[in-house]
Amino acid sequence: MHYPSFTFVLWGLAAVATGGECCKAKAKCPVASVSDLVNTGNPVGKSEVYENVTMYYTGGDNATDVSVLFLTDIYGLASPENKLLADSFGRAGYFTVAPDLFNGSPSPLDMNAPGFNQTRFLDSHGPPETDPIVAKAVQYLREVRGARRVAVAGYCFGGRYALRFAGTTAGAGRNGVHAAFAAHPSGWTADEIAAVALPASVALGDLDELNPPDKRHELEALLANTTAPWQADLYSGAPHGFAVRANVSEPQPRFAKETAFIQAVRWFEFWAKGEPYR
Ligand SMILES: *[C@@H]1O[C@H](CO)[C@@H](O)[C@H](O)[C@H]1NC(C)=O
Ligand SMILES: *[C@@H]1O[C@H](CO)[C@@H](O)[C@H](O)[C@H]1NC(C)=O
Ligand SMILES: *[C@@H]1O[C@H](CO)[C@@H](O)[C@H](O)[C@H]1NC(C)=O
Ligand SMILES: *[C@@H]1O[C@H](CO)[C@@H](O)[C@H](O)[C@H]1NC(C)=O
Ligand SMILES: *[C@@H]1O[C@H](CO)[C@@H](O)[C@H](O)[C@H]1NC(C)=O
Repeated sequence: MHYPSFTFVLWGLAAVATGGECCKAKAKCPVASVSDLVNTGNPVGKSEVYENVTMYYTGGDNATDVSVLFLTDIYGLASPENKLLADSFGRAGYFTVAPDLFNGSPSPLDMNAPGFNQTRFLDSHGPPETDPIVAKAVQYLREVRGARRVAVAGYCFGGRYALRFAGTTAGAGRNGVHAAFAAHPSGWTADEIAAVALPASVALGDLDELNPPDKRHELEALLANTTAPWQADLYSGAPHGFAVRANVSEPQPRFAKETAFIQAVRWFEFWAKGEPYR
């Protein structure tokens, strides 16, 4: 309702020319348009608290049949880039929920801020603390909002949990999700990736210091050894965090961010909406 004009303000007539019209109608539209991705401006979603977890929701007020669970990086819901990217999934036709993974205290944008200890922060936000929050968000989407299927998109910190919840590691069975996408996941373990049991797509950058070539190769080999469909795409000129906070004035980061978004939506269109994997 409010978003088309917002899109046009930012993208101008180019939005129409690149498929914005097609995707507004959602008729015969195979995948999101790049014009669904908005990088600046004000987030358009709303928040509510469910069982002590703040849920940022966007893409309308009602669940879509397939809804997106958006798992942020360590900057959490305080970061406009995270909310804007969640909104972009909303524009692509998915009701989207991003839970506050850090109980109101995400990492400051400047990790060298006085008093911030990253080691302690990560220690206090491990799987024992984070899995239950992600599980609550899945429950919120399915039981409160009535989503039939959940596709999970995770970035950096959240990328690890997207892959965990596509596997048999966290909680019971397949954890209520149907397909996963992870961009530059951080902190993942070999066990978690080996346990992946659902379609999983990853987006990696060649300049990501947290996933250097040996780690990327290991991730790919682990995915290749699972039985589920998988995809691993590597983008050039793409540093850690590129799928959320790229400098879109530069062509390579812009291409990487846009295409990682299209990669996620295409994955969800195919494996969550179209051909759910059993
Ligand atoms: C919410 O937090 C309060 C205060 O910490 C606690 O007493 C309550 O059990 C929590 N509720 C849920 C559903 O986790
Ligand atoms: C959302 O669902 C409610 C209750 O079913 C309905 O009244 C409302 O019209 C829906 N809103 C939209 C935007 O579809
Ligand atoms: C940061 O936290 C870790 C783990 O709690 C601790 O071992 C370390 O001493 C802390 N560093 C500083 C500079 O306080
Ligand atoms: C591949 O998967 C099989 C079956 O899960 C497992 O036994 C084997 O150790 C895996 N190999 C590698 C290289 O991870
Ligand atoms: C982004 O790229 C533009 C064009 O190269 C450059 O002028 C600008 O300084 C960059 N911004 C940041 C924050 O690095």
